[in-house]
Amino acid sequence: MNGIEMFGIHWKNPVTTAAGTFNAKESPKYYNPELLGAITTKGVSPIPWRGNPLPRIAETPSGMLNAVGLENPGVDAYIEQELPELKQRGMVVIANVAGHEIEEYCAVVRKLDKTDVDILELNVSCPNLKEGGLAFGVDPKAVHLVTSAAKQHTKKPIIVKLSPNVTNIVEIAKAAVAAGADGISLINTLVGMRIDLNTGKPILANGTGGLSGPAIRPIAIRMVYEVAHAVDVPIIGMGGIMTGEDAYEFLLAGATAVAVGTAALIDPAAPVRIVQELEEAVRKYGDPRK
Ligand SMILES: Cc1cc2nc3c(=O)[nH]c(=O)nc-3n(C[C@H](O)[C@H](O)[C@H](O)COP(=O)(O)O)c2cc1C
Repeated sequence: MNGIEMFGIHWKNPVTTAAGTFNAKESPKYYNPELLGAITTKGVSPIPWRGNPLPRIAETPSGMLNAVGLENPGVDAYIEQELPELKQRGMVVIANVAGHEIEEYCAVVRKLDKTDVDILELNVSCPNLKEGGLAFGVDPKAVHLVTSAAKQHTKKPIIVKLSPNVTNIVEIAKAAVAAGADGISLINTLVGMRIDLNTGKPILANGTGGLSGPAIRPIAIRMVYEVAHAVDVPIIGMGGIMTGEDAYEFLLAGATAVAVGTAALIDPAAPVRIVQELEEAVRKYGDPRK
């Protein structure tokens, strides 16, 4: 499929990785990441986060639950160890930003602003510790505050990545755009739980986890469709994309680009396979943007 322009940045095709599912050391063993439109890296916080106790993964019908807890080595390690290699290879890089308070998001944004990362993606599914741990992304006021605060610390484009665990996704998307978001990505995982029949207790040590994979795709398509009809900024659609035809469906729903997540945990080369399959879908069904 032809390339796209997003915020004046050229992507050779509309496919990126979903945050948390691209590993800078492991993924290139299975495919050449330069073949993707962009690489979205996993959430980085101002200081290293240890993540949640084990077990933190559980299988579900047509999906999986994860409660990794955004384990990451912190923004300084990201800037020193991960970003340079990706940028040296000429890739478009989207850095996913995590925080537990608005100031934590801003601290990461300030540091990334001084690098050659191309785009910042705010993960507003993180718990807002000053507001009792409720995710930023479930409250339009909190989404507005974190977006406008982050915008003050960078001239780089900011994408706000929405949580689907809300009643009215359009209201949240509009709050992000009103605060200056340059783009929207959606959806993050849906909160779920599995219980062990022997112990009667949740399988995940954290209790709940985020549901991803094909099980969530119809919800993601519906939300991308609703948001695309309500705001006028580019959208990166994701949630259960396993094939090029799935990706094509997101473009029909109004996404400018798509991200591949859980599929790459099953078939590590899925992102590049999906680029090829998307080209075939475009030949078969025509240009999705017409
Ligand atoms: C293991 C794992 C780690 C993830 N880490 C992040 C993350 O760091 N930041 C983020 O915004 N989303 C994260 N996500 C959510 C994905 O980027 C994506 O939004 C979600 O999984 C839906 O897409 P999928 O069904 O294709 O996986 C993670 C998902 C998984 C499965």
